[in-house]
This record gives sequence, structure tokens and C-alpha cells, in this order.
Amino acid sequence: MSADQAKGYGLEGVNAADTRISHVDGERGQLVIIGSDVEQLAASTGFEQVAHAMLEQGRGEPIASTALGDARVRAWELLPRLGDALAATDGMDSLRAALAHIWATSDDIADAVTAIGAAPVFVAAWNRTHRGLAPIAPSPELDHATDYLRMTTGDLPDPAASKALGAYLVTVSDHGMNASTFTARVIASTASDLISSVVGAVGALKGPLHGGAPGPVLDMLDAIGTPANAEAWLLNELAAGNRIMGMGHRIYRVRDPRAAVLELAVKPLNTPRLGLAHAVETAAAKILRERKPDRPLAANVEFYTAVLLDAVGLPREQFSPTFAVGRVAGWCAHVLEQRRTGKLIRPASTYVGQMPS
Ligand code: COA
Repeated sequence: MSADQAKGYGLEGVNAADTRISHVDGERGQLVIIGSDVEQLAASTGFEQVAHAMLEQGRGEPIASTALGDARVRAWELLPRLGDALAATDGMDSLRAALAHIWATSDDIADAVTAIGAAPVFVAAWNRTHRGLAPIAPSPELDHATDYLRMTTGDLPDPAASKALGAYLVTVSDHGMNASTFTARVIASTASDLISSVVGAVGALKGPLHGGAPGPVLDMLDAIGTPANAEAWLLNELAAGNRIMGMGHRIYRVRDPRAAVLELAVKPLNTPRLGLAHAVETAAAKILRERKPDRPLAANVEFYTAVLLDAVGLPREQFSPTFAVGRVAGWCAHVLEQRRTGKLIRPASTYVGQMPS
């Protein structure tokens, strides 16, 4: 953004895009999160460490290692106060309504830990309620990914599934100034509270152009069924005027690096869907290349998100809320960062209507 543009946005003296949380290079297909390539971070670092590192930016004392487990327990205690939030048909509606029941305090870090801890508890409780099952209380001694899976399925997951889900949560924890993160920052910039920022961000993430695609990707893989059907099915979909879910990205002009990270993370789970997903991706990339030679459209994060979340045992209606379980860390970190600028984000509009005569 130029200085002149920044002036129009009420951002004089600050560069609106300055962030230490993550960096997206769409031409090279690189994603850096808190100083590490996403490939390395997802393979070697737990979600808790990544979330803590994001929140600790610019702050003296470290967050206690038990903080997220404790926050899950506090969220569980809130369940009786959530009204009918868990009865919502849609998991994102439920998460939005449930998080809105958290009263914000004046301590942003405490609220951030509360929100990050609450998301998996609320989502798992929603899904079990939805299936006519009783919610399951968190085990604070477990890691975040393992406990989330256990609260959803009722069983202690296979370590390989926990590891794959942990890699997923890290991979989606932040991604530059995406739509939901921008939403969170705009709300924070008004000096509103962190919980309001997170609730607004959930609303932005819900849409299929942002976080709503992985469920439809799995529907697509189911509908295609075998690699031999891929091309005909995809051509039919495009002829009907639909987009291929899980393909294309606003920033990446090459394959989304997170697709490779998730593909690698899901491999040890030996899901038969992986082979089908490769075939569909190859066919979709070829067709889209022929249709749109000037606009590279490759697999995005949602393509292999669908395969991974299905392989770890999460039901497809829980895919978008699971994205929120990971991304809430980035939202909170951006709220803290936005606070430090102390500036209101106020985009300019261009009036194209009639003027009074
Ligand atoms: N399938 C078919 N065509 C696609 C496409 C897709 N997945 N993604 C983009 N295109 C086409 C558009 O139809 C458009 O064609 P046109 O110029 O003839 O109208 C062109 O490519 C540019 O699309 P546009 O919507 O301007 O690009 P964008 O940067 O705004 O879109 C997405 C980015 C992600 C919204 C878009 O690629 C998309 O809708 N993908 C499918 C949904 C998805 O996977 N979402 C998850 C994102 S992480």
C-alpha cells in the first residue's frame, strides 16, 4: 500500500500490512509462520508451541505450558451457559454463537488463551450434540489435537492421527492478511475486545470462498468415486457453471505449499482417498490450465484438508469449524499486533452514486 493509499485508510504513519506472524509469497509458493517455513514447522512443532509463540510476540513472560489445557477445562464449564448455541444445524453458526457467550476481559492475552482453548471444546460438543451424543469433557493433560479428536469421537486417537491433526492445526494457524484475519484486525482496530474480533472472524471464515471448501471437496471426491471418472465429472461441473472446490487461490500462482504439507502429513494414515485425490487434482489442474491458460489455478489448502480431516476421523460437517480451531491462534495474535499500532482501520469508499443537484 502506498503512503497516499494509507492516508485514505486512516493509516498514516503505520504500514497496515506490517506483521511478524506470517508471510505468504504467492509467486514462489512459500509460507513462513513465526520465522519458520510451514513445512518445517508442521513437521516439528506442536500447535501449543506455535500458538504460544504467536501470542508471546513482543511480550516478556512466557505463557504457561498448561494454559491451553486449563482453558479447555474452563470452556467445558461454560457449556451449560451457551443457550441453544450447540443446537445450531451448522457448526460455524454454533461456534460463532458459543464463542459470543465468553465475556471479554481487559486482558487480551488471557482472552486469547480462553478463545483458543474454547474452540475445540465448543466444536466437539456441537458435533456430539448434533449426533445425539453427550459431549465429552476435556483432558487438560493431553495435547490440543489429541484432546480435540478424543472429545469428538469419544476414543483416545491413534498417535498417527493425533500427529496428522496437529500438523494440520499448525499449517492453518495463520496465513497473512486473509479475509477472516483482516476482519479480526478491523474489529480490534476500533478498540473493541478480542472475543468480538474472534466472533467476527468466524463469520468471515464460514464462506465457501474462504474456509467453507473442504466439506465440498470431500463431497466431490465421493461423487467422482474412481480416478477414471475424474475428467468427465470435472468437465460436467464446469459446464454447469460451478467452480472446482479446493482449486485456485487469491495469492498463490503456484500450488499452495500447504497442500504438500498436508499431503505428507496424511500419508502415514494410509487412506485410500489419497490416491483418488491425486488423480482428481491432476485432472482438475489439466482442465483448468486448458480453460484458463493465463490464470494459474492449482490445488489450495482445502484440497488435502478434506483428505486429512476425513482420515483422522472427523466428520465432514466439522471441517470448517476445525479450520477455526487452528486459525483462532492467528486471529488472536493479529488482534494483539493490531492493538500495538493503536490505529483505526478505515477503508475508503468511492462514491459512484448521484450527487444532489
Ligand atoms: N474452478 C474453476 N474456475 C476457477 C476457480 C475454480 N476453483 N477458481 C478461479 N476460477 C476462475 C474464475 O471463474 C475466474 O474466471 P473468469 O475470469 O473467467 O471469471 C478466474 O478463475 C479468476 O477467479 P477469481 O474469482 O477472480 O479469483 P479469486 O482470486 O478471487 O479467487 C478463490 C480465489 C479461492 C475464491 C477461487 O479460486 C475459488 O473460488 N476457488 C474454489 C473455492 C475454494 O477452493 N476455496 C478455498 C480457498 S483457500
